[in-house]
Amino acid sequence: MDNKTIDGYMMVGSDEIREQDRLDLQHQVWLLTLQGSLFSVPLPDDDRPILDIGCGTGTWASAMARKFPYKDIIAFDLTPPSASGLSNLSFLKANAEDTWRFEKSFGFIHGRMLTSGIHDWPRLLHQCFENLKPGGWLELLDICHPFNTISNIKEESSEFLRWGHVAERCWFHNGLDYRATNKHTARLEALGFVDIQETEHQWPLGPWADSDIDEQIGILTLRNFVTFLRMAGKDIITKDSILSDQEAQNLVNTALEEQRMA
Ligand SMILES: C[S@@+](CC[C@H](N)C(=O)[O-])C[C@H]1O[C@@H](n2cnc3c(N)ncnc32)[C@H](O)[C@@H]1O
Repeated sequence: MDNKTIDGYMMVGSDEIREQDRLDLQHQVWLLTLQGSLFSVPLPDDDRPILDIGCGTGTWASAMARKFPYKDIIAFDLTPPSASGLSNLSFLKANAEDTWRFEKSFGFIHGRMLTSGIHDWPRLLHQCFENLKPGGWLELLDICHPFNTISNIKEESSEFLRWGHVAERCWFHNGLDYRATNKHTARLEALGFVDIQETEHQWPLGPWADSDIDEQIGILTLRNFVTFLRMAGKDIITKDSILSDQEAQNLVNTALEEQRMA
């Protein structure tokens, strides 16, 4: 891959430690969502390595490396963790949007929560396709926008939903499509991927759900979103002056207040 300086990823807040904690918390939400599994595709029974795109803190890749010590795992990010300490896991610094130059094809490529960092999804998916042949698997996990509510709450009556819409407009100005997740299936089909499966999971916000698992997911998701809003909520919506500083701060404050009531 080419090594360039990137300024596309707009989610990381000023406090790196807190962003790492938030990503680890989000990892727990995904584990609960997938009922304890790290992935849901069939893991190919061959010696090809596994690739993790935009690995963040490396929590997923490290868990995979420990669980499958006979598999080599390559995990890359614009800001990768330092050395993994595991002989079968390498972290690389790379931009997913650059041309990939891997020596071998992969048996499995994983990409989780990448929407705020990818400007050209068709190209990224094409690179996945080319690097999985023959017979590899791709698993993408991400948030769907706009946020849904089970009681069909409208944007006008939720500051959090309004924040989501303003954020989406700002991301759009910066070449990012916050509805990309909903387009993956059609794009994968167009590229020639087969056995495509789309699964929708619902994350409650707050501890109101009936089942124990959903209650836990709701508690962690609320903490995740509150941390995210506090850290990056204002910066995202003041980019390109869509809102003034004060308007943005007011929107974040009222959205946070709404979350506190969840
Ligand atoms: C929301 S975090 C998710 C991290 C990890 N996938 C997880 O699920 O825990 C998004 C990560 O993608 C990385 N990222 C964003 N755009 C990227 C790009 N173009 N190339 C490589 N990494 C990127 C960010 O640096 C960040 O660590």
